[in-house]
Amino acid sequence: MSIEGTREERLCAVSGVVADCRRCTELAETRTQTVFGVGDPNARILFIGEAPGADEDKQGEPFVGRAGQLLTKIIEACGLKREEVYICNVLKCRPPGNRNPTDEEAANCREYLDAQLATVDPEYVVCWGSIAAKNLLATKSPIGKLRGRFHEHGRAKVLCTYHPSYLLRNPAAKKDVWEDMKFLFRDMGVEL
Ligand code: URA
Repeated sequence: MSIEGTREERLCAVSGVVADCRRCTELAETRTQTVFGVGDPNARILFIGEAPGADEDKQGEPFVGRAGQLLTKIIEACGLKREEVYICNVLKCRPPGNRNPTDEEAANCREYLDAQLATVDPEYVVCWGSIAAKNLLATKSPIGKLRGRFHEHGRAKVLCTYHPSYLLRNPAAKKDVWEDMKFLFRDMGVEL
């Protein structure tokens, strides 16, 4: 997808294309609206989650439900505001019943994620959970095997860590995510 303009204008244009997308018939029929992405188009860090849930589908913004509130807390614990990072998902539509995205759905939506990555051109990408990691890095490894080091995507350093929904079910893993955030921010020149 080749679109001209500032980063804001380019993201806005892609978001318009996404709003009309009907590549996944089931998702297009069941969604309230598409959920594109929010945050700073010039952010140093881009976050990738899995797919919108019920709250995101209602509000049109990624990570606003319970998992999103935890993600916001993590961002703030790192000394940033939500508006200072860019947040998006592998899928821009809610899978019914919050099932996992199918490979076909992820492939259909990949062009939009790639456009977000190319436009924001972040120094760092965080894959929250194995669906994001699997899709961005084409790996089958679980997060436990991927975390604790950087992977590469273009010029970006990619960190994989547990999804906030997993942390809600397994609070003991919060300390691992905090280690991952310290690792990321140390590389950015910030001691947490
Ligand atoms: N989980 C995700 O992966 N993304 C959201 O936007 C909300 C919950």
